[in-house]
Amino acid sequence: MRNYDSIQHVRGDSLFIDDITPPQGTLYGYVYYSPIAHGKILQLDFSEALKSTGVKGIFSAKDIPGVNQIGGIIQDENLFAEDSVHFVGHPIAFIVADTQLHAHEAAKKIKSIYEKLPAIFDPRQAAAENKLIIPHRKFELGNIDSAWSECEYIIEGSVESGGQEHIYLETQGSIAFPTESGIKIISATQGPTAVQRTAAKILNLPMNRIEVDVQRLGGGFGGKEDQATAWACMAALAAYKLNTPVKLVLPRQEDIRLTGKRHPYSSDYKIGLTKDGKILAYEVTFYQNAGATADLSPAILDRTLFHCTNSYFIPNVRATGLSCKTNLPPFTAFRGFGGPQGMFVIETAIYKAALVMGMEPAEIQRKNLLNEGDELPYGQKTFNCNAIRCFDELDHKFSVKNIFQEIEEFNMKNKLVKKGAAIMPICFGISFTTTFLNQASALVHIYTDGSIRVNTAAVEMGQGVNAKLKRIAARTLSVNESRIKVDTTNTSRISNTSPTAASKGTDLNGFAVIDACNILIERIKKVAAEELGKDDASKISIIDENVFYENEPTILTFIDLVKKAYLKRISLTAQAHHSTPNIFFDLKSNKGNPFAYHIYGSAIIQVTLDCLRGIYEFDSVKVVHDFGESIDQIIDIGQMEGGIVQGLGWMTIEELIWNGEGKLLTDALSTYKIPDIHFAPKEIKIHALENSPNDFGPLRSKAIGEPPFMYGIGAYFALTNAMRAFRPNMKIKYDAPLTPEKILLNLYNK
Ligand code: MTE
Ligand code: HPA
Ligand code: MOS
Repeated sequence: MRNYDSIQHVRGDSLFIDDITPPQGTLYGYVYYSPIAHGKILQLDFSEALKSTGVKGIFSAKDIPGVNQIGGIIQDENLFAEDSVHFVGHPIAFIVADTQLHAHEAAKKIKSIYEKLPAIFDPRQAAAENKLIIPHRKFELGNIDSAWSECEYIIEGSVESGGQEHIYLETQGSIAFPTESGIKIISATQGPTAVQRTAAKILNLPMNRIEVDVQRLGGGFGGKEDQATAWACMAALAAYKLNTPVKLVLPRQEDIRLTGKRHPYSSDYKIGLTKDGKILAYEVTFYQNAGATADLSPAILDRTLFHCTNSYFIPNVRATGLSCKTNLPPFTAFRGFGGPQGMFVIETAIYKAALVMGMEPAEIQRKNLLNEGDELPYGQKTFNCNAIRCFDELDHKFSVKNIFQEIEEFNMKNKLVKKGAAIMPICFGISFTTTFLNQASALVHIYTDGSIRVNTAAVEMGQGVNAKLKRIAARTLSVNESRIKVDTTNTSRISNTSPTAASKGTDLNGFAVIDACNILIERIKKVAAEELGKDDASKISIIDENVFYENEPTILTFIDLVKKAYLKRISLTAQAHHSTPNIFFDLKSNKGNPFAYHIYGSAIIQVTLDCLRGIYEFDSVKVVHDFGESIDQIIDIGQMEGGIVQGLGWMTIEELIWNGEGKLLTDALSTYKIPDIHFAPKEIKIHALENSPNDFGPLRSKAIGEPPFMYGIGAYFALTNAMRAFRPNMKIKYDAPLTPEKILLNLYNK
């Protein structure tokens, strides 16, 4: 099956926000924002800007009819700055004009005077000054304090990991227009309900006066889970005030400057092992750079703690997380949601331990992999645990031992070019760790011509959720997929939606679709029994649109039943709500069963490093991954490849640099390098773990969206292995991304 969206994409037929023909009279907005990282606004003068060509209005905090508040988890973020600004890019006002150019020109005429205040950019400094978003979080298992005395080796260290800009192809944007009942917003958001709820609050309207509609996103990757809201609210505010449609699409550079990214982390670890490599104790402290407001940082910090031991069983763990408030734009969700930051630290600890102990990292990894029934630091016990299966299968399928041997031989023969490889096992929990978000609903209509329309809370952002939902509906109803159209995501049709995130889109909405389709099946089976003059509708089955009674063919078809049902005044519309069963988490003890299940897999990443220039190429990424029973293999392979390349980019070339004043210097694609087709590994080989049906996923599938990202972490260690082949006694500071510059510094420093 093809991802049917891709055919439209290559023809240019898909409508993104900027492709929608705006209603006549639409005005265009531009965001005016703080040029300084922290300060008081002493003066703000719009008078010249208001006289500028084409300007229809300038809106700021004082124009908000409701409350100037867009915070999701914590109410600590205003839509427009009031009397102080807290980061470069902090929105201050929204200028609306007849063209985007006029709005932008007017912005240059706004006069503002600030009193600069001291700014903090380093999370450790913020922690030292007690500038925390929430009180620290702590996950504990076993008894760490008594465990150290049993360890033969204790290794300590620090790890830095950088942020990451989303670079979704479609920048943030929305169009808002007044309707008879209120405001309709077309938004590129992963969270339509967040937009609806927040716009209602800003405009002081009940939620039933705001309609949010999402056709699709040109990528979200977490960057539009929470952070599409502000732009939608600005357009809505202006549309409401001016009673005219208003469109706001951020230019790329502004998008990079104004929006949050993956959180940079600075972490300390201490790991204790027996002499044969069993990990007995692990203590870790994460300093999360949260930026100026909470956004999703507390939930992201929690996922760092959930995944701090990756796919290993460690009996004694203490993991502490501090969400540190700094004067940078609020960092936000990005594929993996804090998980990768936690997993990078434990992998570093293992690699460092291997070095000290003279062992192979893979041996330590293998010895400590999770087994069935092992307890994770948050109290959940593993089940259907495939960590070891994937790791061993990787060896079988791809002859991992030979790979390492060949690399050694290559390195003996070559002086300036070195190869390296590393294994990266993953374990990722599937469910929103915020338990209440694990719900979704579906509304399915069968029309009298037999065509079917499916509505859910899921947002299509390139991950193929619509194609998967289409298949799920077709399979459940046993009809041809061509009958089914998946509708836009719309808050008037589906209420109280959770964002499409946490890799749960297909799971949550897919189960809701199954439930709604089953209601319809029951109804039309009854119609079939009546038509056939039978009493027992349970003996009816519908297979490939044909109706059977006791497994014998009848003259009836699906389309006959639809027509008959209508004439019999039977509803051909069904709604269903699904919530993930048996999950819970206690935020006081930090124990529970937060995840419906876990994703497992193992990858080996191979790299060739030019030790003269510091540049490198990824030769291959080979993976054994647990897909469950894939709903759509092409889509799932696409998610794997995209995730892996995005993960490699985070670890190696994507580097965010702010100057000493908190201004982002890498705010364009000329200075912020993202992976392209030349950077991508020459070979990506993916083997699906066989025989692994998942009882907790629709059609026995497993979620796919985020987990592959974390295979990319192996790139860091593949590189350090190649570097060590060149300079065996190299002392390296673990500081991702490992750019060519940093490689040269590490290879040649004194
Ligand atoms: N794939 C594409 N092409 N575009 C995206 O924006 N987002 C990722 C992942 N894969 C994304 C993607 C993230 S962060 C998540 S949480 C999941 O898709 C969300 O979709 P799902 O829940 O349907 O897997
Ligand atoms: N993942 C993604 N988004 C979220 C989560 C999560 O676990 N919890 C709250 N929002
Ligand atoms: Mo994904 S970071 O949960 O949108």
